[in-house]
Amino acid sequence: MKGDDIRRTFLEFYRERDHKIFPSFSLIPEDPSLLFTVAGMVPFKPYFSGERPVEFLRAASCQKSIRTNDIENVGLTARHQTFFEMLGNFSFGDYFKEDAIRWAWELSTGPFGLDPERIWVSTYEDDDDSVQIWRDVVGVPADRIVRRDADDNFWWMGVAGPGGPCSELFYDRGPKYGDVEGFQDGDRIMEFYNLVFTEFQVDDEGHRIADLPKRNVDTGLGLERLAQILQDVPTAYDTDLLRPIVARAEKVTSRRYGENEKADVSLRIIAEHARAGAFLIGDGVIPGNEGRGYVLRRLLRRAVRHARLLGVDRTVMAEMVDAVVETMGEAYPDLAAARAYIEQVVTGEEEGFHQTLRLGMSLLDSEIDIARDAGATRLPGDVAFKLHDTYGFPFELTLEIARDAGLEIDRADFEVLMDEQRARARSDRRAKLDLTDSEALTRVLSESGSSLFTGYERMEQEAKVIGIVRAGEQVPSAGEGDAVEVVLDATPFYPEGGGQVGDHGVIEVDGARLEVVDTQRRLGDLIVHTATVARGEVHAGTPAFARVDPAWRAATERSHSATHIVHATLRQTLGEQSRQAGSLVERWPRRAHAVPSCCSRRSTATSCASSRSGTIRSSCAGERTSHERATSAWSRS
Ligand code: SER
Repeated sequence: MKGDDIRRTFLEFYRERDHKIFPSFSLIPEDPSLLFTVAGMVPFKPYFSGERPVEFLRAASCQKSIRTNDIENVGLTARHQTFFEMLGNFSFGDYFKEDAIRWAWELSTGPFGLDPERIWVSTYEDDDDSVQIWRDVVGVPADRIVRRDADDNFWWMGVAGPGGPCSELFYDRGPKYGDVEGFQDGDRIMEFYNLVFTEFQVDDEGHRIADLPKRNVDTGLGLERLAQILQDVPTAYDTDLLRPIVARAEKVTSRRYGENEKADVSLRIIAEHARAGAFLIGDGVIPGNEGRGYVLRRLLRRAVRHARLLGVDRTVMAEMVDAVVETMGEAYPDLAAARAYIEQVVTGEEEGFHQTLRLGMSLLDSEIDIARDAGATRLPGDVAFKLHDTYGFPFELTLEIARDAGLEIDRADFEVLMDEQRARARSDRRAKLDLTDSEALTRVLSESGSSLFTGYERMEQEAKVIGIVRAGEQVPSAGEGDAVEVVLDATPFYPEGGGQVGDHGVIEVDGARLEVVDTQRRLGDLIVHTATVARGEVHAGTPAFARVDPAWRAATERSHSATHIVHATLRQTLGEQSRQAGSLVERWPRRAHAVPSCCSRRSTATSCASSRSGTIRSSCAGERTSHERATSAWSRS
């Protein structure tokens, strides 16, 4: 079964079971706590947490994803990739363990034709329900059900958010992929489908801090993994999803895959990173020195370096992008449409890197001359560090060239300097984060759970005060004049997100009045109002009435619509490759006055929706929905 058929079969199976099918969302998530979309569930996170109302109870998608924690291993092993496609079916408070398990089995042993006798399953150690369903409903023999602890069978995004115990399906690919006794997760008994029973809100470390409002299902079936199994090939690079791209790497380097392990590593790296790079650029990332841009730069430079290791000194990445588009353009039309732009970006980066290499080489040559003149056998670590840190010259290359000249590098020195540099970068990052009150807020979250956002439906909300923080301390009450952070169990206040500023307004609590001057999302799903007690005294645990300032919200929404219009115009004028990478959506005009006719609610709603072509995508999904819902709420009132 070809990769395209696997995609189609999966989505069709779940369409027949009433799932709404979504095209892949962007690799750049709406969620600001993540650098990249790391799994199919990421774009649906607000539905799991209950923060966005569900308009559909079941969804399925094939989501392009990137995980960069193992870049160093990509190419070296047959299993690691940065970019992959994840097929997933999701339930938002609808079906749970039994249907998820039954359907995963039916799909695997039916349309995908896997041999039921060779499927192993794992469950979370104390998840008796799943064990019982696998054994008694599905009929998997007890000795092929393995209970595993949280290290293996509890899934969350790696940052605060929804998570839960999981149950995985594995396939025994037979003795040609190694000898095993019993169960052993690896190249022979390979995991291909993960069913997560998303019931909890977890913190950054994956500790459960609250129950989610509903019990959900989040699954992920690795497309490349299943292709590897169904096509019975040793690695993902041998599947029809990647092999044509590896073939192009063979062509541009005049090497043959499978002849020499060292060259194979390079060919895999060139192919994998070209694919990941093309998709990232297609989704609006450009090479740079920090964040996403840095990851992209690293991927592209690593690919170029490996092309050079194979003796290539011309630019090749545009040809590699061509192969990526040829292989994947049908499944991802946006990628095909952006082909010329992507080729231009990779070539620019490749030329820049060649320039870096030339500059680095000349510096390195003169350092080598100095060392030789002094009769030294090694180069000081700071030479390698400066080349790496200031000129972006890869350490491995310095090592290789020095070695060719008969010199060692003082590695220990180099590592010390690198550690110091990392520590500086860490402390810079920490300084940028406001961590002062997170302890108090963590306590609020663990004691009272997250806040429910109701601002899509209403501007006013009856609620309860669940936490008050003053000067970084959780306090039971606050008095007139106090500057506080207040958390309610439910709130219509929009927390800053997607570039749009947080709502302002008023919270009334038993004769007291709080004036809210900012709203922020903290610790994943806690909505925190920054306020001053303008009158009276406010106590935790008491009922409250929260009212968003309608003029503030309306003014912010006009800016929001204007932002969409600007971006739509940019796309029309400059081309589809122009992507929004960030924006500040503040209220406009700053002082509320009569709404100009060109910005009437009706016209803004229309432009807002049309600028996204009516589909839920990328960072604008929630904003558009919010806009339309809030607009209709006002029309009713
Ligand atoms: N989110 C889970 C995973 O990535 C299931 O999709 O494995």
